[in-house]
Amino acid sequence: MSMTADELAKRQAIIDACRRMNALGINQGTSGNISLRHGDGLLITPTSVPYDAMTTEQIVFMTMDGSFARDQKPSSEWRFHRDILKSRADVNAVVHAHPLYATILAIMGMEIPPVHYMIAAAGGDTIRCAPYATFGTAELSEHAVRALEGRLACLLDHHGMIAIGKTLDKAMWLAVEVETLARQYHGCLQIGKPPLLTSAEIERVRQRMAGYGLSET
Ligand code: 13P
Repeated sequence: MSMTADELAKRQAIIDACRRMNALGINQGTSGNISLRHGDGLLITPTSVPYDAMTTEQIVFMTMDGSFARDQKPSSEWRFHRDILKSRADVNAVVHAHPLYATILAIMGMEIPPVHYMIAAAGGDTIRCAPYATFGTAELSEHAVRALEGRLACLLDHHGMIAIGKTLDKAMWLAVEVETLARQYHGCLQIGKPPLLTSAEIERVRQRMAGYGLSET
């Protein structure tokens, strides 16, 4: 397989991010998947390959119409990766994982409310929870794209979490932040009903973050 240095670097960055995802404890086994915009399509992790064994050749190039080389097997979640990258010109990277606390909230069908000002990093005053649909389906993709409207992260009911960003580093950073917010919210719920920040305050934080180097995408 011949490829440019840029493409090879992107493929390696995807594998490195997958391994980081598990080292950070924000994913379980091979249940996550990652994609990066590339040319007129995307590069995406293969399905069910343990990250330690994943090679750059196994990363799949897919066009925006969903076609890929016959001998390759893209992630079963390629639809929402493709649909997010297709519908969001502001986004170049998509990270999907099943982090423990984010998934606990998702199982309960709960969104994350503004319990901490860092929620602004995900683009708004909540992190929505997309309704349940079977993994890998166009229906799940539609739900995910809708839950991400005006946002950079969402939960997936009975499933996990998606974080997106302008770069893979930013999407990875946000994935970790979403899990932190989920843990904080879960912890607060053990004590009682947490007081929330107002939407106006989250908007103020969003504007400050833009000047602080914590801009959203
Ligand atoms: P893969 O097909 O990427 O291994 O997917 C597992 C998964 O996350 C299903 O949601």
